[in-house]
Amino acid sequence: MKRQQELIGVLLDLGLSIQASSVYPESHQRVQELLARLHNRLQAETGRLNVLHIGFLGDHAVIDEFPFLGLNPTLDRLIRKMRERGIEKISFREGITPGELKRFVYFVGGGRESGAEHRWECINYGKIQGVSEDEAPMSVLSSQPSRSHVLLGATDVLKNLLLSMAGEGKGTKVSEGRDIVAAVMKGLRKEGMLIDTLIRLQSHDDYTVTHSLNVCVIVVAQAVHAGFPEASVQEIGLAALLHDIGKEMIPAHILNKKGRLDTEEFERIAEHPVIGAKLLRKIECGSDLPMIVSFEHHIKYDRSGYPDVMFGEAIHPASYMTQIADVYDALRTYRPYRKSLERETAVSIMKEGRGTEFEPKLFDDFLDLLG
Ligand SMILES: [Fe+2]
Ligand SMILES: [Fe+2]
Repeated sequence: MKRQQELIGVLLDLGLSIQASSVYPESHQRVQELLARLHNRLQAETGRLNVLHIGFLGDHAVIDEFPFLGLNPTLDRLIRKMRERGIEKISFREGITPGELKRFVYFVGGGRESGAEHRWECINYGKIQGVSEDEAPMSVLSSQPSRSHVLLGATDVLKNLLLSMAGEGKGTKVSEGRDIVAAVMKGLRKEGMLIDTLIRLQSHDDYTVTHSLNVCVIVVAQAVHAGFPEASVQEIGLAALLHDIGKEMIPAHILNKKGRLDTEEFERIAEHPVIGAKLLRKIECGSDLPMIVSFEHHIKYDRSGYPDVMFGEAIHPASYMTQIADVYDALRTYRPYRKSLERETAVSIMKEGRGTEFEPKLFDDFLDLLG
């Protein structure tokens, strides 16, 4: 992940510098700091690669062959800015000076002058000739096999979304959640059904964030596999993404406890489906499904689990799918108190629960999906 962090750092600093350049004069401290940081990063990258290529196509930025979707607001703004300026590629060569970088940033940010007035020594920019938008951007810049990181940046967006939903509740917009689900759907289309590959790309120091994104990936794959229409997949994906929102209200020392939970602590955690459902009732999610899935995702097929429900009460299929994905991700993920399990081991443990813990038909579909 370190490499991607470095590269996204270049893109974000470029975006921030350009934003700042349209607000502040060149002498302003904020601009100076951002430009200095960006220059350092570019020096490091060009020192290593000679030339650092950045491409902008559609809703992607590609840097040194790594594609990033504009999920982060700064990155999204950068991509839009470049589109506005008609710039599809930029290359920075080794030896770039702070002065040339500043001129370029002000040229892009200001949008007043044409670049032709400048002599660029170590910067090249322009259009990528003869490339349509549907072509995978990385194939433009390199013939390396694709390394999909379409979800990079999604964890930070999701963390902010969960926090703002838990904090303000009413009035929060879940559009960023929808964007994440759309990116997940796109990622799965591109990567086929390589769920394990896709979910290993996510990591955030907050377990709930990583877990929520992973569960969303698995549930979207299940829903596509089951043949739900696209709009339903979106709804189901959003519900899966938000299934553990109630955990934002559980004290961190209980959530992250390494040892066994005592009864009281377990009861606190077991409240998260109800807390989440109450939270989601106050938020406009476009449907009741997120609320339903939050409430039901720990109820087992035989109606054990929590919260208590009457036997025979119907459980939504999206809740069953989320419950399956939830258990799978929990088993596959490393936790401080337990090692992560191999796919085969996780699956063989889960098979014990077919027809008791898990709805049998959906469970079979899930196994089929894992292949
Ligand atoms: Fe949960
Ligand atoms: Fe969960």
